[in-house]
Amino acid sequence: MVDPAVSSPLRPFCCGCSAASCSEAPTRTMAATEIARQAGEGARAIPLSGHVGFDSMPDQLVNKSVNHGFCFNILCVGETGVGKSTLMDTLFNTKFEGEPTQHNQPGVQLKSNTYELQESNVRLKLTMVNTVGFGDQINKEDSYKSIVEFIDTQFEAYLQEELKIKRTLHSYHDTRIHACLYFIAPTGHSLKSLDLVTMKKLDSKVNIIPIIAKSDAISKSELTKFKIKITSELVSNGVQIYQFPTDDETVAEINSTMNGHLPFAVVGSTEEVKIGNKMVKARQYPWGTVQVENENHCDFVKLREMLIRVNMEDLREQTHTRHYELYRRCKLEEMGFKDTDPDSKPFSLQETYEAKRNEFMGELQKKEEEMRQMFVQRVKEKEAELKEAEKELHEKFDRLKKLHQDEKKKLEDKKKFLDDELNIFKQKKTAAELLQSQAQQAGGSTTLKRDKERKNSGFL
Ligand code: GTP
Ligand code: MG
Repeated sequence: MVDPAVSSPLRPFCCGCSAASCSEAPTRTMAATEIARQAGEGARAIPLSGHVGFDSMPDQLVNKSVNHGFCFNILCVGETGVGKSTLMDTLFNTKFEGEPTQHNQPGVQLKSNTYELQESNVRLKLTMVNTVGFGDQINKEDSYKSIVEFIDTQFEAYLQEELKIKRTLHSYHDTRIHACLYFIAPTGHSLKSLDLVTMKKLDSKVNIIPIIAKSDAISKSELTKFKIKITSELVSNGVQIYQFPTDDETVAEINSTMNGHLPFAVVGSTEEVKIGNKMVKARQYPWGTVQVENENHCDFVKLREMLIRVNMEDLREQTHTRHYELYRRCKLEEMGFKDTDPDSKPFSLQETYEAKRNEFMGELQKKEEEMRQMFVQRVKEKEAELKEAEKELHEKFDRLKKLHQDEKKKLEDKKKFLDDELNIFKQKKTAAELLQSQAQQAGGSTTLKRDKERKNSGFL
């Protein structure tokens, strides 16, 4: 039997694949036949006549894993003030930074913090992601979206790293969410629709562990009913929560018992209170003390055991083999990659690439031809437009020319008419002047004659 605490870190490296997909780590006690069986048909089991040394592989792997360190990412989803930060501080026996959130956030945001923790000689890179402003909006319809987006972004980053020619997965900081602690408010009634919708949207993307927060606010009998109600609502709405694995016989019993206790009813506190002669984490009330680590008071210890001590590696493994695999498959299929052709025959990546490339080139050529046709059409249209405009200009010019000629002719006629008038006038004027001068001459001789006659008559 392998101690789960020791065997767990081995899993991702048990066949050197680092894919966390192997379920069994090799042990020193394995018989040759067993090894042959695991190696598959065709491998012949032969006995060793002496010690060789490859039985140190598990130790080598442990050393390698310990030197490399571990990484674990927790997402806390829950309404503002439901007790997320306090529970995290209590779980990891430390005080993580973070200020309480106000209830006036316009939307849900995700805030991520990474810490380096060390216990004995084991280093853990812990990332805690918190939902800020969850449940604070009047319209909560889109509350789950930013959480789903965040989880997908982490998957996408990992996929992009995997698809690189030059991969650095060994030193890559894996930010994929391994466990989602879903904080249910201790209403004692039933799940809110926001909780159901959010869990439903998340269940295929992350390992959900539902917990009843601030469970000291609920009486024992109400809590039992509340747990039953929550479980039945999750089942009737088809929400898949994380089940502690029961396939490893070393933890099967404890895990199956714990599955029956879900959702865990927890209390968080970092305050130390003296009980008897021991300092324990507790919450003190006027009527008594709730001890966080007392299993008669709440399920905090169960949560810590299941989340950290027993199933941390399984959560990491499930994230990789189930949730990430699903994301990767959908994404690659979306991009047109398939394992088989329409006749269900295996289809290699190279063939998919060639097919995609040909499809792309065909589309490109089609687009080019369309654009060329469009260009020719446009040029033709423009030419026709220009010709039409030229024709119109010519017509306009001719019209104006004719108008000008008509006007000119009219003016010339008018001028001729006026010249004629002027000539007639001049002739008339000359005749008038002549007449006037003749009249004057005639008038002058008559006056002289009259003066002479008057003189003669004696008037003068
Ligand atoms: P935000 O980060 O602001 O969303 O809040 P949070 O969810 O991190 O809650 P936080 O841990 O800051 O706790 C909010 C208040 O609830 C604090 O006054 C805590 O002392 C109190 N609290 C936390 N855990 C419990 C609990 O288990 N029971 C009770 N009764 N109160 C708790
Ligand atoms: Mg907080």
